[in-house]
Amino acid sequence: MQVNLAKAVALLNSGKVVAIPTETVYGLAADARNEDALREIYAIKQRPADNPLIVHIASSEQVLDWAETFSPLAQKLAKAFWPGPFTLVLPAKSTVSSIVRAGEPTVALRVPAHPVAQQLLQQTGLALAAPSANKYTQLSPTTAQHVKNGLGAHVAVLDGGACQVGIESTIVAVNGDQWQLLRLGMIAEMDVKAVAGLAATVEKQVCPKAPGQHLLHYSPKTPMQLFSSRQALMQAAATETNCAALLIGEGKMTNSPTFNLPNNPAGMAEKLYETLHQMDALRMTKLLIETPPKSPAWLAIHDRLGRASYKID
Ligand code: TXA
Ligand code: MG
Repeated sequence: MQVNLAKAVALLNSGKVVAIPTETVYGLAADARNEDALREIYAIKQRPADNPLIVHIASSEQVLDWAETFSPLAQKLAKAFWPGPFTLVLPAKSTVSSIVRAGEPTVALRVPAHPVAQQLLQQTGLALAAPSANKYTQLSPTTAQHVKNGLGAHVAVLDGGACQVGIESTIVAVNGDQWQLLRLGMIAEMDVKAVAGLAATVEKQVCPKAPGQHLLHYSPKTPMQLFSSRQALMQAAATETNCAALLIGEGKMTNSPTFNLPNNPAGMAEKLYETLHQMDALRMTKLLIETPPKSPAWLAIHDRLGRASYKID
Protein backbone atom coordinates (compact mmCIF):
# COMPACT_ATOMS: atom_id res chain seq x y z
CA MET A 1 0.00 0.00 0.00
CA GLN A 2 1.58 3.27 -1.13
CA VAL A 3 1.30 6.14 1.35
CA ASN A 4 2.34 9.79 1.08
CA LEU A 5 4.54 11.66 3.54
CA ALA A 6 1.65 13.00 5.66
CA LYS A 7 0.09 9.54 5.94
CA ALA A 8 3.47 7.96 6.77
CA VAL A 9 3.96 10.52 9.56
CA ALA A 10 0.47 9.77 10.93
CA LEU A 11 1.03 6.00 10.80
CA LEU A 12 4.43 6.18 12.49
CA ASN A 13 3.06 8.48 15.18
CA SER A 14 0.29 5.99 15.91
CA GLY A 15 2.73 3.11 16.38
CA LYS A 16 2.39 1.56 12.94
CA VAL A 17 5.11 0.18 10.66
CA VAL A 18 5.96 1.95 7.37
CA ALA A 19 8.62 1.05 4.77
CA ILE A 20 10.66 4.16 4.08
CA PRO A 21 13.42 5.19 1.67
CA THR A 22 16.96 5.79 2.89
CA GLU A 23 20.05 6.41 0.77
CA THR A 24 21.28 2.82 1.35
CA VAL A 25 18.22 0.52 1.11
CA TYR A 26 14.54 0.81 2.08
CA GLY A 27 13.95 0.38 5.82
CA LEU A 28 10.95 -1.09 7.67
CA ALA A 29 10.44 1.73 10.16
CA ALA A 30 8.60 2.21 13.44
CA ASP A 31 8.84 4.26 16.63
CA ALA A 32 11.97 2.96 18.35
CA ARG A 33 10.39 3.48 21.80
CA ASN A 34 7.15 1.63 21.06
CA GLU A 35 7.63 -2.06 21.91
CA ASP A 36 4.47 -3.24 20.13
CA ALA A 37 5.65 -1.48 16.97
CA LEU A 38 9.11 -3.05 17.35
CA ARG A 39 7.57 -6.52 17.71
CA GLU A 40 5.58 -5.88 14.54
CA ILE A 41 8.83 -5.14 12.61
CA TYR A 42 10.28 -8.51 13.69
CA ALA A 43 7.01 -10.26 12.78
CA ILE A 44 6.74 -8.74 9.28
CA LYS A 45 10.39 -9.50 8.52
CA GLN A 46 10.21 -12.96 10.12
CA ARG A 47 13.46 -11.97 11.78
CA PRO A 48 14.85 -13.84 14.81
CA ALA A 49 14.62 -11.85 18.03
CA ASP A 50 18.40 -12.03 18.58
CA ASN A 51 19.17 -9.75 15.64
CA PRO A 52 19.09 -6.08 16.78
CA LEU A 53 17.70 -3.11 14.83
CA ILE A 54 19.34 0.16 13.79
CA VAL A 55 17.81 3.30 15.35
CA HIS A 56 17.65 6.21 12.89
CA ILE A 57 17.92 9.67 14.42
CA ALA A 58 17.67 13.17 12.90
CA SER A 59 21.09 14.38 14.03
CA SER A 60 23.98 13.60 16.35
CA GLU A 61 22.34 15.84 18.96
CA GLN A 62 20.10 12.86 19.75
CA VAL A 63 22.89 10.35 20.30
CA LEU A 64 22.83 10.78 24.07
CA ASP A 65 19.09 10.01 24.18
CA TRP A 66 20.16 6.45 23.26
CA ALA A 67 23.83 5.98 24.07
CA GLU A 68 25.40 6.02 27.52
CA THR A 69 28.54 7.66 26.15
CA PHE A 70 29.50 9.54 22.99
CA SER A 71 33.29 9.38 23.14
CA PRO A 72 35.53 11.85 21.27
CA LEU A 73 36.33 9.09 18.75
CA ALA A 74 32.63 8.35 18.16
CA GLN A 75 31.98 12.08 17.78
CA LYS A 76 34.77 12.39 15.25
CA LEU A 77 33.33 9.54 13.16
CA ALA A 78 29.80 10.94 13.42
CA LYS A 79 31.04 14.34 12.28
CA ALA A 80 32.82 12.81 9.29
CA PHE A 81 30.15 10.37 8.09
CA TRP A 82 26.73 11.68 9.23
CA PRO A 83 24.33 12.16 7.69
CA GLY A 84 25.19 9.16 5.55
CA PRO A 85 25.54 5.39 5.05
CA PHE A 86 27.25 4.87 8.39
CA THR A 87 26.05 3.22 11.63
CA LEU A 88 27.68 3.61 15.04
CA VAL A 89 27.24 0.90 17.66
CA LEU A 90 27.63 2.51 21.10
CA PRO A 91 27.06 1.46 24.73
CA ALA A 92 23.28 1.72 25.23
CA LYS A 93 21.41 3.62 27.92
CA SER A 94 19.46 1.28 30.17
CA THR A 95 16.23 3.00 29.02
CA VAL A 96 16.64 1.65 25.45
CA SER A 97 14.18 -1.18 24.81
CA SER A 98 15.85 -4.58 24.91
CA ILE A 99 13.75 -5.48 21.85
CA VAL A 100 15.46 -2.89 19.66
CA ARG A 101 18.92 -3.98 20.84
CA ALA A 102 18.00 -7.67 20.99
CA GLY A 103 19.37 -7.93 24.51
CA GLU A 104 22.79 -6.49 23.58
CA PRO A 105 24.38 -3.91 25.91
CA THR A 106 24.85 -1.66 22.85
CA VAL A 107 22.61 0.31 20.47
CA ALA A 108 23.13 0.93 16.73
CA LEU A 109 22.52 4.53 15.59
CA ARG A 110 22.42 6.12 12.14
CA VAL A 111 21.62 9.60 10.83
CA PRO A 112 20.35 8.97 7.30
CA ALA A 113 21.05 11.48 4.51
CA HIS A 114 17.97 10.74 2.38
CA PRO A 115 15.79 13.88 2.33
CA VAL A 116 12.56 11.87 2.78
CA ALA A 117 13.98 9.96 5.75
CA GLN A 118 15.09 13.28 7.25
CA GLN A 119 11.62 14.79 6.74
CA LEU A 120 10.04 11.78 8.46
CA LEU A 121 12.38 12.04 11.44
CA GLN A 122 11.72 15.75 11.77
CA GLN A 123 7.96 15.66 11.23
CA THR A 124 7.32 12.69 13.53
CA GLY A 125 9.78 13.87 16.16
CA LEU A 126 10.56 10.17 16.68
CA ALA A 127 13.65 8.03 16.42
CA LEU A 128 12.86 5.29 13.92
CA ALA A 129 14.02 1.71 14.32
CA ALA A 130 14.43 0.31 10.82
CA PRO A 131 16.01 -2.87 9.52
CA SER A 132 16.12 -3.39 5.76
CA ALA A 133 12.55 -3.84 4.45
CA ASN A 134 12.92 -7.42 3.22
CA LYS A 135 12.09 -10.83 4.64
CA TYR A 136 14.87 -12.36 6.71
CA THR A 137 17.77 -13.65 4.53
CA GLN A 138 16.35 -12.23 1.30
CA LEU A 139 17.74 -9.54 -0.96
CA SER A 140 17.42 -5.99 0.40
CA PRO A 141 15.03 -3.61 -1.41
CA THR A 142 16.28 -0.50 -3.19
CA THR A 143 12.89 0.55 -4.65
CA ALA A 144 9.32 0.75 -3.31
CA GLN A 145 8.37 -1.97 -5.80
CA HIS A 146 10.96 -4.36 -4.29
CA VAL A 147 9.37 -3.81 -0.87
CA LYS A 148 5.92 -4.59 -2.25
CA ASN A 149 7.19 -7.72 -4.04
CA GLY A 150 9.05 -8.95 -0.96
CA LEU A 151 6.70 -8.08 1.91
CA GLY A 152 3.30 -7.93 0.20
CA ALA A 153 0.94 -5.16 -0.83
CA HIS A 154 -0.55 -4.78 2.66
CA VAL A 155 2.65 -3.20 4.05
CA ALA A 156 2.58 0.63 3.92
CA VAL A 157 5.37 1.98 1.69
CA LEU A 158 6.49 5.57 1.17
CA ASP A 159 8.05 5.79 -2.29
CA GLY A 160 11.17 7.97 -2.35
CA GLY A 161 12.63 6.68 -5.61
CA ALA A 162 15.59 4.33 -6.06
CA CYS A 163 18.25 4.29 -3.32
CA GLN A 164 21.50 5.89 -4.44
CA VAL A 165 24.06 4.10 -2.30
CA GLY A 166 22.37 0.76 -2.97
CA ILE A 167 23.88 -1.46 -0.25
CA GLU A 168 23.49 -1.37 3.54
CA SER A 169 25.44 1.03 5.76
CA THR A 170 28.94 0.46 7.12
CA ILE A 171 28.69 -0.53 10.80
CA VAL A 172 31.41 0.44 13.28
CA ALA A 173 31.30 -0.29 17.01
CA VAL A 174 33.03 2.28 19.22
CA ASN A 175 33.87 1.82 22.86
CA GLY A 176 35.88 4.74 24.27
CA ASP A 177 38.89 5.10 21.99
CA GLN A 178 38.56 1.65 20.41
CA TRP A 179 36.70 0.82 17.24
CA GLN A 180 35.81 -2.29 15.31
CA LEU A 181 34.35 -2.73 11.85
CA LEU A 182 31.20 -4.90 12.12
CA ARG A 183 29.83 -4.66 8.59
CA LEU A 184 31.44 -3.56 5.35
CA GLY A 185 29.74 -0.80 3.37
CA MET A 186 30.50 1.93 0.89
CA ILE A 187 32.33 3.90 3.57
CA ALA A 188 35.40 1.68 3.45
CA GLU A 189 37.61 0.57 6.32
CA MET A 190 40.37 2.85 5.02
CA ASP A 191 37.96 5.83 5.20
CA VAL A 192 37.22 5.01 8.84
CA LYS A 193 40.94 4.60 9.58
CA ALA A 194 41.68 7.96 7.98
CA VAL A 195 39.27 9.68 10.38
CA ALA A 196 40.01 7.59 13.48
CA GLY A 197 43.74 8.17 13.03
CA LEU A 198 46.50 6.52 14.96
CA ALA A 199 45.17 7.62 18.33
CA ALA A 200 42.52 4.91 18.18
CA THR A 201 43.32 1.32 18.97
CA VAL A 202 42.10 -0.84 16.15
CA GLU A 203 40.76 -4.14 17.35
CA LYS A 204 40.85 -6.06 14.12
CA GLN A 205 38.63 -9.02 13.40
CA VAL A 206 39.36 -11.56 10.72
CA CYS A 207 35.72 -11.88 9.80
CA PRO A 208 33.48 -8.82 10.26
CA LYS A 209 30.50 -9.81 12.37
CA ALA A 210 27.37 -8.33 13.85
CA PRO A 211 24.76 -10.41 15.68
CA GLY A 212 22.50 -12.15 13.23
CA GLN A 213 24.75 -11.29 10.31
CA HIS A 214 25.28 -14.87 9.26
CA LEU A 215 26.35 -15.92 5.80
CA LEU A 216 22.96 -16.79 4.39
CA HIS A 217 21.88 -13.22 3.77
CA TYR A 218 20.99 -10.86 0.97
CA SER A 219 20.14 -13.79 -1.30
CA PRO A 220 18.15 -13.98 -4.52
CA LYS A 221 16.06 -17.15 -4.91
CA THR A 222 18.00 -18.30 -7.98
CA PRO A 223 21.38 -19.97 -7.26
CA MET A 224 24.30 -17.67 -8.02
CA GLN A 225 27.83 -18.59 -9.03
CA LEU A 226 30.74 -16.14 -8.84
CA PHE A 227 33.58 -15.92 -11.37
CA SER A 228 36.77 -13.96 -10.90
CA SER A 229 37.48 -14.03 -14.64
CA ARG A 230 35.30 -13.27 -17.66
CA GLN A 231 36.77 -16.25 -19.49
CA ALA A 232 35.74 -18.74 -16.79
CA LEU A 233 32.23 -17.26 -16.77
CA MET A 234 31.95 -17.65 -20.56
CA GLN A 235 33.06 -21.28 -20.32
CA ALA A 236 30.46 -22.03 -17.65
CA ALA A 237 27.77 -20.27 -19.70
CA ALA A 238 28.51 -22.55 -22.65
CA THR A 239 27.48 -25.60 -20.61
CA GLU A 240 24.46 -24.06 -18.85
CA THR A 241 21.14 -24.17 -20.63
CA ASN A 242 19.12 -21.68 -18.65
CA CYS A 243 21.30 -18.99 -17.13
CA ALA A 244 21.67 -15.20 -17.04
CA ALA A 245 24.99 -13.37 -16.70
CA LEU A 246 26.06 -10.25 -14.84
CA LEU A 247 29.12 -8.57 -16.36
CA ILE A 248 31.13 -5.66 -15.02
CA GLY A 249 31.50 -3.05 -17.73
CA GLU A 250 30.86 -3.84 -21.39
CA GLY A 251 30.10 -7.23 -22.89
CA LYS A 252 27.28 -9.45 -24.06
CA MET A 253 26.66 -13.20 -23.91
CA THR A 254 25.47 -14.82 -27.11
CA ASN A 255 22.93 -17.25 -25.68
CA SER A 256 22.03 -15.86 -22.26
CA PRO A 257 20.39 -12.67 -21.06
CA THR A 258 23.19 -10.29 -20.05
CA PHE A 259 23.15 -7.55 -17.42
CA ASN A 260 25.93 -4.96 -17.21
CA LEU A 261 27.01 -2.91 -14.20
CA PRO A 262 29.39 0.08 -14.13
CA ASN A 263 33.06 -0.71 -13.56
CA ASN A 264 33.38 1.44 -10.43
CA PRO A 265 32.40 0.59 -6.83
CA ALA A 266 29.79 3.34 -6.26
CA GLY A 267 28.15 2.77 -9.64
CA MET A 268 28.04 -0.99 -9.16
CA ALA A 269 26.74 -0.78 -5.58
CA GLU A 270 23.93 1.60 -6.59
CA LYS A 271 22.49 -0.85 -9.10
CA LEU A 272 23.61 -4.18 -7.60
CA TYR A 273 20.45 -5.27 -5.73
CA GLU A 274 18.19 -3.76 -8.41
CA THR A 275 19.96 -5.90 -11.02
CA LEU A 276 19.91 -9.04 -8.84
CA HIS A 277 16.16 -8.51 -8.29
CA GLN A 278 15.69 -8.26 -12.09
CA MET A 279 17.82 -11.33 -12.76
CA ASP A 280 15.98 -13.31 -10.07
CA ALA A 281 12.64 -12.43 -11.68
CA LEU A 282 13.70 -14.25 -14.88
CA ARG A 283 13.44 -17.55 -12.96
CA MET A 284 16.55 -19.01 -14.58
CA THR A 285 18.25 -22.07 -13.11
CA LYS A 286 21.46 -20.14 -12.42
CA LEU A 287 22.91 -16.63 -12.31
CA LEU A 288 26.54 -16.29 -13.39
CA ILE A 289 28.24 -13.30 -11.81
CA GLU A 290 31.52 -11.66 -12.74
CA THR A 291 33.25 -10.40 -9.58
CA PRO A 292 35.24 -7.15 -9.31
CA PRO A 293 38.91 -6.92 -8.27
CA LYS A 294 39.65 -7.54 -4.57
CA SER A 295 41.01 -4.04 -3.93
CA PRO A 296 39.83 -2.14 -0.79
CA ALA A 297 37.19 0.01 -2.50
CA TRP A 298 35.41 -3.12 -3.80
CA LEU A 299 35.36 -5.12 -0.55
CA ALA A 300 31.77 -4.30 0.45
CA ILE A 301 30.53 -5.46 -2.96
CA HIS A 302 32.57 -8.67 -2.60
CA ASP A 303 31.00 -9.20 0.80
CA ARG A 304 27.43 -8.86 -0.53
CA LEU A 305 28.08 -11.03 -3.60
CA GLY A 306 29.64 -13.69 -1.36
CA ARG A 307 26.57 -13.72 0.88
CA ALA A 308 24.13 -13.66 -2.05
CA SER A 309 25.80 -16.70 -3.59
CA TYR A 310 26.06 -18.70 -0.37
CA LYS A 311 23.72 -21.64 -0.10
CA ILE A 312 23.32 -24.45 2.41
CA ASP A 313 22.64 -27.69 0.62
O1 TXA B 1 21.79 0.82 5.59
C1 TXA B 1 21.31 0.26 6.56
O2 TXA B 1 21.97 0.02 7.59
C2 TXA B 1 19.83 -0.15 6.48
C3 TXA B 1 18.98 1.10 6.42
C4 TXA B 1 17.51 0.82 6.46
O3 TXA B 1 19.36 1.97 7.46
N1 TXA B 1 19.48 -0.98 7.58
C5 TXA B 1 19.91 -2.25 7.72
O4 TXA B 1 19.38 -2.89 8.82
O5 TXA B 1 20.67 -2.78 6.94
P1 TXA B 1 19.48 -4.46 9.08
O6 TXA B 1 18.67 -4.69 10.29
O7 TXA B 1 19.09 -5.18 7.87
O8 TXA B 1 20.96 -4.68 9.44
C6 TXA B 1 21.44 -4.13 10.65
C7 TXA B 1 22.63 -4.86 11.13
C8 TXA B 1 22.34 -6.28 11.58
O9 TXA B 1 23.33 -7.15 11.04
C9 TXA B 1 22.46 -6.20 13.08
O10 TXA B 1 22.97 -7.39 13.60
C10 TXA B 1 23.43 -5.04 13.27
O11 TXA B 1 23.08 -4.14 12.28
N2 TXA B 1 23.22 -4.40 14.57
C11 TXA B 1 22.16 -3.70 15.00
N3 TXA B 1 22.30 -3.36 16.29
C12 TXA B 1 23.50 -3.82 16.68
C13 TXA B 1 24.22 -3.80 17.91
N4 TXA B 1 23.72 -3.23 19.00
N5 TXA B 1 25.43 -4.40 17.94
C14 TXA B 1 25.94 -4.98 16.83
N6 TXA B 1 25.30 -5.05 15.65
C15 TXA B 1 24.09 -4.48 15.59
MG1 MG C 1 19.06 -6.54 6.37
